[in-house]
Amino acid sequence: MTASGNTKLAVIGAGSVGTSLAYAALIRNSAREVVLYDVNAAKAEAEVLDLAHGTPFTGTSRISGGGDIDVVADADMIVITAGAKQNPGQTRLDLAATNAGILEQLMPQLLERAPHAVYLLVTNPCDVLTVVAQQIAQLPAGRVFSSGTLLDSARLRWLIAERACIAARSVHAHIVGEHGDTEFPLWSGARIGPTPIREWTDTDGELVFPPNVLDQIRHDVVHAADRVIAGKGATNYAIGLSGARIVEAVLRGERAVMQVSSVLEGYRGIDGVALSVPSIVGSGGVERVLDVPMDAVELGQLQASAEALRASAVSIGH
Ligand code: 2OP
Repeated sequence: MTASGNTKLAVIGAGSVGTSLAYAALIRNSAREVVLYDVNAAKAEAEVLDLAHGTPFTGTSRISGGGDIDVVADADMIVITAGAKQNPGQTRLDLAATNAGILEQLMPQLLERAPHAVYLLVTNPCDVLTVVAQQIAQLPAGRVFSSGTLLDSARLRWLIAERACIAARSVHAHIVGEHGDTEFPLWSGARIGPTPIREWTDTDGELVFPPNVLDQIRHDVVHAADRVIAGKGATNYAIGLSGARIVEAVLRGERAVMQVSSVLEGYRGIDGVALSVPSIVGSGGVERVLDVPMDAVELGQLQASAEALRASAVSIGH
């Protein structure tokens, strides 16, 4: 497979998320050139070598990088994964002050070297950090956004698909709001094929997703990362794939509908807060935030999520 045009992707941070994202991008040919940067030069160089050794088995993408930030020069897209990660018992919002400090150092250096890039925040809390990055960058809102709840929506689709014995790609369901504890599913619009999920029946005509099952699925999605972190210390593969998929939507100008997080202005009464709602992602980043149908319960949940994120941003001075 041929990589997307003459495109350059820079991945910032050579930890488990950054390297998984770079690996996914190489395998999927998400960009022509992938560069990996980390302040720990030895780690970045070792990861680049390991990834490069596998490229005879991938497509036409190339990998390079190291500890010199100039490797990001003129990137078309920059994905930021650098920062402290969640430990068992911590929430994503607990990382806000530490990771905002790292971003404040990093962003000006990146903007100087890649002024035309689309910026994707993956580091947590990704919604709060999107506000911080946008305040520094002062770019059009859609050019600085975060992976938000695309991963949570993938988790939701997988759980629904497993229960209904259906291909996950036939499940159309969205988690919106914070990428964190206040996120929630838009059950009113969730469908398998064209059928509303609340009406989906098995071959005996029994409802497969009654209210108690929907509640359990929501709980399992919200706590999915906690389970993985308790077992192996971090999540990396699924977020790596989610990030690579967003990179493709941008670098191929797809205008794909994705649940990503950008700073909202005048969206259902929300201003200056970044959270995920279904959005059109293309060469300009987030090209349009969609005014999707929500019922009264969902609208209330959206406001609660916005309030939690606003409080977190204010608590770190943003
Ligand atoms: C995840 O949801 C921890 O945000 C990370 O996998």
